[in-house]
Amino acid sequence: MGHLLAPSILAADFANLQRDIETVNASDADWFHLDVMDGVFVPNISFGMPVVQAIAKHAQKPLDVHLMIVDPDRYIDAFHALGADVLTVHIEATTHLHRTLQAIRAKGMKAGVALNPHSPVSLLQDVIGEFDLVCLMSVNPGFGGQKFIERTYQKVREMRAMLYEGGASALIEIDGGVGADNWAKLVDAGADVLVAGSSTFNSPAPADAIRVMKGLPVDA
Ligand code: DX5
Ligand code: ZN
Repeated sequence: MGHLLAPSILAADFANLQRDIETVNASDADWFHLDVMDGVFVPNISFGMPVVQAIAKHAQKPLDVHLMIVDPDRYIDAFHALGADVLTVHIEATTHLHRTLQAIRAKGMKAGVALNPHSPVSLLQDVIGEFDLVCLMSVNPGFGGQKFIERTYQKVREMRAMLYEGGASALIEIDGGVGADNWAKLVDAGADVLVAGSSTFNSPAPADAIRVMKGLPVDA
């Protein structure tokens, strides 16, 4: 399987949301990445349920929902009802991660766990078979358009080895600062899913930017 590309709607034009969703529908992208922020876990507020609902109505690809909120257990049912396919919580925002991951899977969603840049992958050792996706943050969460943290390559390799040793098959997702200049290096290091916000939507031709990051030829 080749790698997956998940454009982050955080960088879309919110006044032309349906247009930008249709662009992704018609593109070679694989998932929609939706960043939900509460202004407490991260120093920014993005969008909540009504906007996720509006996106879900038009999106024709799986919804990868990234919760940057404290105590995410409170909203597992709500995001399931909205149509989330992957639901990712932050290890730093969750007191009982094992229970939270099980609750997400019990709803039939893929369970994701995100690690901030300061959290080592070793924190996941004792839940190694309990998640379907691990999101390695390659910027500090809260904002799009930040600079990629180079240490991430090493983290991908460490995570890849840990999953192999644990006999687990979770996908490794990279979120933050991904673009034309580093996507291939991340895939080489072992990444399965690349999130791309500004590199997709700040491009004059988002569909072409997506093809570039999928490793597909782009017509001149
Ligand atoms: C950051 C979000 C990212 C963000 C990435 O907190 O989790 O998904 O949209 O944006 P770029 O790709 O612009 O770094
Ligand atoms: Zn995200």
